[in-house]
Amino acid sequence: MLSGNRILLGVTGGIAAYKSAYLLREFQKAGADVRVTMTPSATRFIGSETFSALSRHTVAVEVFTDNRQDESWTKHIHWAEWADLFVIAPCTANTLSKIVHGASDNMLTSTVLAARCPVLICPTMDGEMYESPGVTHNLEKAEKMGYHLLEPESGYLASGLEAVGRLPRLSSILKKSETIISESREKGPLSGKSVLVTAGPTREFIDPVRYISNPSSGKMGIAMAEAAARLGGNVTLLKGPGTEKETERMNTVPFISAYDLFEKVKRHQKADIVIMAAAVSDFAPSETFNSKVKKEDASGSIPLKQTPDILHWLGDHKTDHQVLIGFAMETENLEKNAKKKLAAKNLDWICANSLVAENSGFQNDENEILLIGSSETKTFVGQKKVISLQILREIFT
Ligand code: CTP
Repeated sequence: MLSGNRILLGVTGGIAAYKSAYLLREFQKAGADVRVTMTPSATRFIGSETFSALSRHTVAVEVFTDNRQDESWTKHIHWAEWADLFVIAPCTANTLSKIVHGASDNMLTSTVLAARCPVLICPTMDGEMYESPGVTHNLEKAEKMGYHLLEPESGYLASGLEAVGRLPRLSSILKKSETIISESREKGPLSGKSVLVTAGPTREFIDPVRYISNPSSGKMGIAMAEAAARLGGNVTLLKGPGTEKETERMNTVPFISAYDLFEKVKRHQKADIVIMAAAVSDFAPSETFNSKVKKEDASGSIPLKQTPDILHWLGDHKTDHQVLIGFAMETENLEKNAKKKLAAKNLDWICANSLVAENSGFQNDENEILLIGSSETKTFVGQKKVISLQILREIFT
């Protein structure tokens, strides 16, 4: 159930902090990718190195680091966007109080404020503290604010008392996490919608060992597919050769050439939403040889023919209520050229990429996209995984 999901695990300074290492493992075993943010007090109970080694990600404790040149101080925003679910386990009375009062004095509390994903709080403390009027009031407030709560269990506590306050069993936290994620998907803006996404390059073979292609990694298209799945869409991803691994939350179909892609797109043409992010080669060799062309037999030039413009065809066959989103890859006159494609291909939206902008384009993990609709333009800059979600939220909410 958690397969392909991204869980941000918040660890605060209570004795149960050591159990969070096991919780992280359980999330991973269930297929989730986990990152950890700890409060400074939590590091007195368990080392951040334990979590970075287990999660294979850096662990974030403070918003600012000692290195003043460090540009990662916006991590709380990026991690909050990255996560499908933020689980704070254990959550001390102090962090609970900060959360309900909107404090942002460390990485964990700042990330709670920035989170758009559901947040699960597992309050864990001594029984007397748990039943105190202040904590009771804060728990009620947290629930009213829309945070998910998992009540602590009763049992032997570090103080020597037997009372309510223990971190719930890991299996209960896992079960609750799965329920929250599946419910949030059902409530997502793309819930019930079929979404077709194409990603990556095409290969137009000259002979069995040579082809015409482009440097597309498919990262942007796959990020769009993952974002659509996260917002509740029922996603089919058509994925070109050599592209990255996608999550398991979608139905993936590989393609090789523009003609192959065209046939596969036609099969899914009635999808409610089509996102055409593939870098389709505009040209293919006029003739394909079944066996390798020997050097001495080569003519010195390769006659080409144009491939079908798949997106143009989709625009011509657009069904009622269908939302058609294209991409434009430009080296100059970005907005003007993209607007031309928006109109010519009968699109609802176009995501314009400049190949010359810093930190954007092929292979990069980051991108700068100018989203153009019929009456709106907006720029998105950042990690492809993050801006994909922002773009789809902009369009569909
Ligand atoms: N596209 C397509 N079929 C093609 C070429 C492009 O479906 N044969 C789609 C791309 O997936 C993208 C959009 O059309 O969503 C724009 O692609 P782009 O390469 O930027 O522009 P082209 O339309 O090919 O025009 P040009 O190469 O002249 O800029």
